[in-house]
Amino acid sequence: CRLVILISGRGSNMQTIVETIARDRLDAQVCAVISNRADAAGLAWARQQGIETRAVPHRDYPTREAFDEALAEAIDAFQPDYVLLAGFMRVLTPGFVARFEGRLINIHPSLLPSFPGLHTHQQALTLGVQWHGCTVHFVTAQLDHGPIVAQGVVPVCAGDDPDALASRLLAVEHRVYAQVVRWLAEGRVSLDERQAVNVKGVA
Ligand code: GRF
Repeated sequence: CRLVILISGRGSNMQTIVETIARDRLDAQVCAVISNRADAAGLAWARQQGIETRAVPHRDYPTREAFDEALAEAIDAFQPDYVLLAGFMRVLTPGFVARFEGRLINIHPSLLPSFPGLHTHQQALTLGVQWHGCTVHFVTAQLDHGPIVAQGVVPVCAGDDPDALASRLLAVEHRVYAQVVRWLAEGRVSLDERQAVNVKGVA
């Protein structure tokens, strides 16, 4: 199972995926890590692991469409089975999504459909929810929407500020995304005709 991972910064989710594949000897390989920022810390880490990296700086392109086109070409060069967004902070155009639909997956730091968009931990605290979490989902043209593959949940604790909640959640994000990559490597994830996710062997 050929994977390309897109990041914008630290890349801790990407790192966890790389480490999980090595530790569990999954039948998967990260063919490339690509970022919209040449200075993304995750790119340097991936390079040290001997993984191919590419930077496609969005500022180098006159339009969103031109950037997405360059990004798509960079991805296609690696012929991935799946493209995983992990801390990727760009909104992708419908044309890009259509090109990769069905093999484009993202992790969002909230229990979708609650709290789409940014500052999800602040949104959760402001509303006073008692449970927060993350969602791994197939990407569709509608932002932070799309068929859900897996979710992880964390309690909101008294005195939490956004950073405390974010760091409690990040550990769970890593576990959930690693589990999804295991399922992808085992070929167990599919979308049915209703665009609902089916994971073989998981109720
Ligand atoms: C994570 O919370 C992820 O859910 C969000 O960006 C944050 C940073 O992720 N999209 P990473 O450490 O770059 O993987």
